[in-house]
Amino acid sequence: MADDRDRLEELRQLIEQHNYRYHILDDPLVSDAEWDALMRELLELEARHPGWVTPESPSQRVHGAPAAGFNAVEHAVAMLSLDNATSADEIRAFDTRVRKFLGEKSPIAYCIEPKYDGIAVELTYERGVFRIGSTRGDGRTGEDVSHNLRTIRSVPLRLRGSPPQVLDVRGEAFMPLAAFRRLNEERLDEGLQPFANPRNSTAGTLRQLDPKVAAARPLEIVIYGIGRGHDELGFGSQGESIAGLREFGLKTSELFCASYEIDELIAFHAKLENERDSLRYEIDGSVLKVDDFALQKRLGELNRSPRWAIAFKFPARQSTTRVIGIETSVGRTGALTPVAVLEPVAIGGVTVEHASLHNQDEIERLDVRVGDTVFVERAGDVIPKVVRVVLDLRPGRTRRHKPPENCPVCDTPAVRPEGEVVKRCPNPNCPAKQRERLRHFASRGALDVEGLGEKLVDQLIDAELLTRPSDLFGLKIDRIAALDRMGQKSAQNLVSAIENSRDVSLGRFLYALGIRHVGERIGEVLAASFPDPITLLDASKQELEEVDEIGPTIAESLRLSLDEPENRAEFLQLVDTLRIQSGPELEVGNESEALAGKTVVITGTLSIPRSQWKKRILAAGAKVTGSVSKKTDYLLAGENPGSKLEKARECEVEVVGEDRMEELLG
Ligand code: IVH
Repeated sequence: MADDRDRLEELRQLIEQHNYRYHILDDPLVSDAEWDALMRELLELEARHPGWVTPESPSQRVHGAPAAGFNAVEHAVAMLSLDNATSADEIRAFDTRVRKFLGEKSPIAYCIEPKYDGIAVELTYERGVFRIGSTRGDGRTGEDVSHNLRTIRSVPLRLRGSPPQVLDVRGEAFMPLAAFRRLNEERLDEGLQPFANPRNSTAGTLRQLDPKVAAARPLEIVIYGIGRGHDELGFGSQGESIAGLREFGLKTSELFCASYEIDELIAFHAKLENERDSLRYEIDGSVLKVDDFALQKRLGELNRSPRWAIAFKFPARQSTTRVIGIETSVGRTGALTPVAVLEPVAIGGVTVEHASLHNQDEIERLDVRVGDTVFVERAGDVIPKVVRVVLDLRPGRTRRHKPPENCPVCDTPAVRPEGEVVKRCPNPNCPAKQRERLRHFASRGALDVEGLGEKLVDQLIDAELLTRPSDLFGLKIDRIAALDRMGQKSAQNLVSAIENSRDVSLGRFLYALGIRHVGERIGEVLAASFPDPITLLDASKQELEEVDEIGPTIAESLRLSLDEPENRAEFLQLVDTLRIQSGPELEVGNESEALAGKTVVITGTLSIPRSQWKKRILAAGAKVTGSVSKKTDYLLAGENPGSKLEKARECEVEVVGEDRMEELLG
């Protein structure tokens, strides 16, 4: 009894402290799973001793207090949180509970959608005009972050159609993985601490006082619920409301399934989990909801969570393991990056053996030493990183990391330019840099040579078939086929993938060169101002700086790279070899996720470059793969489609032309 009392107090303090770190400081000490476990324990204790529950207990509110510096916004209808399940059995038990409560023997309809891993927000529209945007806060009172939410392009400032006088919609603001990765790269470059995951970077962005910061970071939103206005709208179900909200011009989930069959809903969850790594953004599970609003109303809520919904969480993507060494890797631009070598650990279905430590400052901030037990987190296909050290488990003897004086690959003395946080290898011919440049050149956002992953690049380099990007276009099938684990067929595929990659926009080509500070966005910006690559090659630093968004750092970096005689020769060689498209890439609508979860194969000669079709199809949420199988949803076929067409017929895959694909993309 006395033990329970002590533990109760301890739990309340711990949870409050974690809430503060998480919601106010954006610097959590424990994983979500650990927090959930503490909360569960508290709820169990309080259930056993109902007399001990006080209004101040963290169990009595949804989340942390609004931060200072923002106006408080009262939510007219409370924003609830969700109960969690982690297994199919718990989902079945949830269904049983729901039906028992309703006295319903036959199956009822549920819908299921992704659980977006961002920050819950409410948007208030008055007469269809965006007025206030707020965070959930403690569920009753949140923070006014209108100035930041209105910078999000998928937040309509005016609704379409005729919405009710006052409409509150709820959803999740989140940062897509690509933007998260870019933001962290920039922060590291500026010597700032990187964000642990996209959710933290979203929270950090929404909490900015200056909306310019948010405007420069492409957040997105997805809407899944309604506060005030719910009754006036007269929607009958969650499914209907999603369709209705979309009519108002709001962005809702494209990944959605409604069914009476629990098994089908569980299968949808499993499918989401399978596709988790290929999504553009992080999801941490799915949310199962009773579809019918009348039934939702009868079910009501318990402990600040609705009885009609449950979060079906994926296994955590954080885990603990031991650091067995700290090595230094050499990046594309020569940056020397410390990497933790880990005791292998499975995180969300992937074995993790390395994690980035970013730079020496980060090592010191985390105080990571060889021998330490650490928390490792993985998000999407982002490189795993060390989040924190478990100091309680530090052994008596640990070893601190000493940054190397020389490049670990070519032994050239490393330099740390003034004002920079990172040490670099200055040798332009460092084999490590060459390797990374080649990997980058072939990678997804760059030339996107299908099937040419890092392993194969390494094999080609080791076989001395490849030193610079332009070598790719002279590779011979026989030489490739002679490599380990390759054959005539895969060699042929590789050569045709390389051939296909020749069609490339100027922006992508510039990005593919791997010049420091020239990311995808800057590649596009340069392409828009220098439609002819040769003019860019000869542009002075001053001419470069005249371009909007190009500052002295980027201009300097461009000149430094392009003035290197070998780089200049390679640039000219590539301009000769590739079929570079000048001008901006086709506008890609960000509202469409029309092909979410679909798999598309492209074949034949098309009226616009294949790379542009590919980009548009990817932007619509589909995967684009190189060969037709039963899993393919569409074959986009141009003229002379060849063997893929036959294969598509065999596999009963729908074959579409360019016009039909336009329609599908909406
Ligand atoms: S419905 C009353 N649907 O999960 C139920 N929530 O732990 C309201 N979330 O606060 C939530 N995706 O931040 C719902 N498709 C989705 C969601 C979702 C993410 C978040 C939301 C909520 C939290 C609950």
